[in-house]
Amino acid sequence: MTFPTHGRPAGEILSEVASERSDDLDWRGGKAFSLVYNVDDPDLEALQHEIASSFLHENALNPFRYRTLLRMEAEVVDMACSLFGAATGSMSSGGTESIFLAVQTARDHARARGVTAPTLVCAATAHPAFAKACKYLDVRQVRLPTRSDGRADPDRFASAIDADTALVVVSAPCYPFGVIDPVTEIAALAAERDVLCHVDACLGGYLLPWWERLGEPVPPWDFRVPGVTSLSADIHKYGYAYKGASTVLYRDRDLYQRQIFMYDDWPGGLYASSTAAGTRPGPPIAGAWATMTHLGEEGYLRLAERVRTAMRGFTAGIAGIDGVRITSDPDLSLFEFGIDPDAEPDTGHGNGPLDIGGIADAMDDRGWNLDRQDGGLHVMLSPGHDKVIDAFTADLADSVAHHQSDRGGDHVYGGVVDRA
Ligand SMILES: Cc1ncc(COP(=O)(O)O)c(C=O)c1O
Repeated sequence: MTFPTHGRPAGEILSEVASERSDDLDWRGGKAFSLVYNVDDPDLEALQHEIASSFLHENALNPFRYRTLLRMEAEVVDMACSLFGAATGSMSSGGTESIFLAVQTARDHARARGVTAPTLVCAATAHPAFAKACKYLDVRQVRLPTRSDGRADPDRFASAIDADTALVVVSAPCYPFGVIDPVTEIAALAAERDVLCHVDACLGGYLLPWWERLGEPVPPWDFRVPGVTSLSADIHKYGYAYKGASTVLYRDRDLYQRQIFMYDDWPGGLYASSTAAGTRPGPPIAGAWATMTHLGEEGYLRLAERVRTAMRGFTAGIAGIDGVRITSDPDLSLFEFGIDPDAEPDTGHGNGPLDIGGIADAMDDRGWNLDRQDGGLHVMLSPGHDKVIDAFTADLADSVAHHQSDRGGDHVYGGVVDRA
């Protein structure tokens, strides 16, 4: 498309987009996973629309001009600190930015003690945002195989941490399998060697406290664990805010200072910021604050209970279908399922043995959108999934019984479109 000479009426633009969007992934119906957290709460959604539009144009670049945003952001960080036991931190635009900031902080901390070629040690299940941060920030990533249960292996970490290690990373939980790494053991190893330890709780951070309060077994994972020095937790995931809201938190105020950028050698005046962005949109800050204060502990507990109902229903449904099984022992509300290696050889679908790609295609044909991973299909549950347990189970049973060979769907988690 070239740049338009004449503008178009608003009504025409809106109706074009409305009709095009009918083909986009529908998350309200409960058949989408992971990209949108479906809270299924019309009051919360109405509040979010209202607050987003009322802060649409505000800019948090200079917090002293928009003091309402300043207060909201400070309160979001305070709420996060109280939830996880942190001393301080910032809001950022998402998990990737929070991770970048934690890696940059650790890299500069290592440089200050004379490390010239800093490394980051993590398990192979750590989110790709760490690889990306390492690439951008010139840190060498050391990725270690996990134990057979999909969790990081403390023995391997013990051997891999050395004098160049700037940061050790653990996940709570990791995205592919929903399992929490042994945070206590690995943070202790890091502390013994005077190395920083980051917990990536981007995914689980705003659900785990409630999961624990519901009585579910949750291994220690936050700042209660000695040796944990920083933590990322996304409000736009299980914090149920709309996109653009994460928190990066620190045990120690001095460490956090390394994240701050100050520049006073510019004719335009002092430039200071605590995160990567310059101009910062108001809606994610206002939306995170409104969501957290609207829901409160009671609301988050209520939603966690719905997620747990969905988790119990989906896992029981899968367990009741011959030929498929969950590939790990998830600690939270997400998991991978694949072909059961112990399935009877004749459990096939009539055209050969069971084929997970073919099952994924059959589920796609029934309107479900399960992400394909290397070892199976990924399920991430939101509160609204409690309404589709029976439909999912019936469609999966049908798909396992009647599917063709894999049509070759992509294993895509995040994509780039080549515009050349
Ligand atoms: C464990 C984990 N870490 C980090 C991220 C990155 O978050 P974002 O996509 O908001 O940048 C994700 C996203 O799903 C995640 O699951």
